[in-house]
Amino acid sequence: MPNFLDLVDVARTAAAAGAEHLRTLPRPALAQWTEKARRDFVTDVDRQVETQIGTQLRAAVPGSVVVGEELTPTAARDAAVVWIVDPLDGTTNFLHGYPQYAVSIGCLVDGALAVGVVHDVTRHVVYHGATGHGAWCGTQRLRGSPISDPRRALVGTGFPFKDMTPMERYLRQLGAVLHASSGARRTGAASLDLADVAAGRLDAFWELALAPWDVAAGVVLIREAGGLVTTLDGDADVLQGGSIVAGNPALHRWLMQLLNEP
Ligand code: IPD
Ligand code: CA
Ligand code: CA
Repeated sequence: MPNFLDLVDVARTAAAAGAEHLRTLPRPALAQWTEKARRDFVTDVDRQVETQIGTQLRAAVPGSVVVGEELTPTAARDAAVVWIVDPLDGTTNFLHGYPQYAVSIGCLVDGALAVGVVHDVTRHVVYHGATGHGAWCGTQRLRGSPISDPRRALVGTGFPFKDMTPMERYLRQLGAVLHASSGARRTGAASLDLADVAAGRLDAFWELALAPWDVAAGVVLIREAGGLVTTLDGDADVLQGGSIVAGNPALHRWLMQLLNEP
């Protein structure tokens, strides 16, 4: 079994190179934006950075597989080491120069989430975690939020924006959260939202439709910081693509109950 901390180093190096690439490339002109689906943009920058990161990860761990958002989203996860990569989480923010986007690299070892690295590109801040080794921001160990009273909670979320079908349900949930908490935030990069939960800046988080590469790294950070992450149905397997509910144990329980109210 590969050493998890070695895998952290590999992921950190690749994420740092990707982040540097994102900092130095010119912001794509409007004519270069492609809509994969309505409101779901991609440019050559996403693809170039994913190529670079994938090449680096495969070279560092021969035989490993990369599941990446833009180039290999459906790659078979049939190797001992599987990387789950979002080369640019927060593409819409990036395209608008809104400084909230990240490189996110998660890693499965023998099918289980083992390593997560989230590199906040504009702040030059790196979060890393490995199962059994804690979650960290530099030398600072992340512990999650100590708040258990929902009335004191700041809750992160992501709006539905591709498939608008769940909008009515989502707006009911948002209303309930705004009534019961001290506020909600939507900043547009799920990996950073999850890092914020791990760091205790957000007390809880939910979103109805996220992909494996949005969450793989952040889930490791939160679990290692003492938090819980499940789907809205309570399933701990959050890499199927779908809903995510996260928080410390008290606020995860509260949010699950609130969001699942009819
Ligand atoms: C998106 C961001 C956003 C979330 C979306 C994701 P992308 O990732 O994480 O915060 O609300 O659901 O798809 O497309 O910018 O990599
Ligand atoms: Ca993403
Ligand atoms: Ca992306």
